[in-house]
Amino acid sequence: MRFVLLSVMSLWAVVAVGCGGGKPAETGGAKSDVKEPATLEEQMALGEKAYGAACASCHGASGEGKAKAPALVGPKGFDDYKTAKDAFDYIKGNMPSDKPTSLSDAEYWAITAYLAKKNNYPVDKKLDAGNAAGIKRP
Ligand code: HEC
Repeated sequence: MRFVLLSVMSLWAVVAVGCGGGKPAETGGAKSDVKEPATLEEQMALGEKAYGAACASCHGASGEGKAKAPALVGPKGFDDYKTAKDAFDYIKGNMPSDKPTSLSDAEYWAITAYLAKKNNYPVDKKLDAGNAAGIKRP
């Protein structure tokens, strides 16, 4: 039960950060409040939520792209990255473009896993610094 409560609170933190809009969001330490996912399933769930909160406004709800920003899913979206590690490095270093590095590593890994999977990279276990360089573009 405690775990469920914490997860819900973490998700709210993610949503709060993502919805900062024009005003600087008071994150209240949201970065460190995000619980490290234990399994690939949890990581995918976190990735989907965090993507929705921090990326979808520019890249579209399913990564289809919008006027403001290119597609992230499909033939052109993700093919600059040879490995999931390259994708993580780019995303962590540059995105969200209005607030780079504003998310926690757990969120960046989760978003990378979520997008890599959508682009058919062979993500079959929780993505992290130890395995990402071995997960290659299909
Ligand atoms: C404020 C709008 C905005 C937000 C929010 C945003 N992006 Fe972007 N993103 C852009 C723009 C604009 C570009 C194109 C930048 C360029 O080409 O230099 C881009 C480019 C990218 C690219 C490279 C795409 C390619 O074709 O090379 C990736 C990957 C990416 N974003 C991922 C993300 C992720 C993941 C998030 C959420 C953590 C995110 N972005 C949030 C605006 C945004």
